[in-house]
Amino acid sequence: MRCTPEAIAAALGDIESRNLRRRRELAPDGRVNFCSNDYLGLANDERVASAMADAARQFGAGAGASHLVSGHTAEHDALERELADFTGRERALVFSTGYMANLGVLSALADRRDLLVADELNHASLIDAARLVRSTSNLRYPHGDAAAARSLLDRYAPGVIEAGGGTFVITDGVFSMDGDLAPLPALATAIREYQGWLVVDDAHGIGVIGRTGRGSCELFGLSPREVPVLVGTFGKAFGTFGAFVAGDSNVIELLVQRARSYIYTTALPPAVAAATRMSLAIVQKETWRREHLNSLIMRFRAGAKARGLRLMESATPIQPMILGQAEEALAASAKLAAAGFRVTAIRPPTVPHGTARLRITLSASHSESEVDRLLSALEAAT
Ligand SMILES: Cc1ncc(COP(=O)(O)O)c(C=O)c1O
Repeated sequence: MRCTPEAIAAALGDIESRNLRRRRELAPDGRVNFCSNDYLGLANDERVASAMADAARQFGAGAGASHLVSGHTAEHDALERELADFTGRERALVFSTGYMANLGVLSALADRRDLLVADELNHASLIDAARLVRSTSNLRYPHGDAAAARSLLDRYAPGVIEAGGGTFVITDGVFSMDGDLAPLPALATAIREYQGWLVVDDAHGIGVIGRTGRGSCELFGLSPREVPVLVGTFGKAFGTFGAFVAGDSNVIELLVQRARSYIYTTALPPAVAAATRMSLAIVQKETWRREHLNSLIMRFRAGAKARGLRLMESATPIQPMILGQAEEALAASAKLAAAGFRVTAIRPPTVPHGTARLRITLSASHSESEVDRLLSALEAAT
């Protein structure tokens, strides 16, 4: 793009003309929020907020430096140990965001000789991370298709290994815009043959999925050996901000030494680490949150079916309804807003063209009656 005011205005005009201009609306706005990732209702929990406030008084508002300079506090350290314990891994490393965790993992562990095999609907941060590696074999398989992933491995891994490279299969655990689960057991089996690595970004699974909230790996009964690199975020079920990578000690140590998005950035505020520790304790203790959430998911799906509303196949709190064109999704979102519900329209490039949607998300903070009222509003709006 040329650096002229006209070129900038033309680029914006193009976005506007395709109904793809995104607008930030202030939150909260008094509407019932059915599009946040606060799946367990912890973002506004008094105990989490107090833990944050207390730690801010003790440690200050910010870390003041990167982890390797002087920003690493006892709160970060304790959170890392608790996360390692929670995920059943030797060690965990706290990153400032999930986006940075994904960039850090791939750029530290993979290089240009390696084969990267990734789901086509992976989160943008995983896609960008794979690009950073600049591998000549950066391949995508059709969404959720483990057999296709396997054929890519069968076709390209032997040559890559012969030339001294490694192999990585990279996937979201729960897909952020579709709500479905990756076929992790089949992917783990496929990669095992090539002694490669399965990297799972379980941003939307951690805290929510699995009997005790340990995520997609727990749901499928996968061991740390099968999923050696696990990424999770705090901005969703934990209700705070930040992220972590869990794995064996040496993997984590290599990230500390090499992950540029860990090394060259200010550490997460210690108060956020303290709040996340409180969330983690609640996630483990208050099983009613997952139980209530799961019953709302079932209620919502049964109610949608009864009303003839077509939802995507999903057993997670992410319950998308594809409407097609961007303007249809925008119009439905506006009608829901008028009825008192916040459900943002999700449009390309976040989702593929022709699949603009309402991405409805459920939370343990919702009541049955709110879900019932949302169903009626959806029926009227779509
Ligand atoms: C699957 C997935 N991974 C990573 C991220 C990024 O995490 P963060 O918001 O902490 O940067 C998100 C969303 O934000 C996500 O949906």
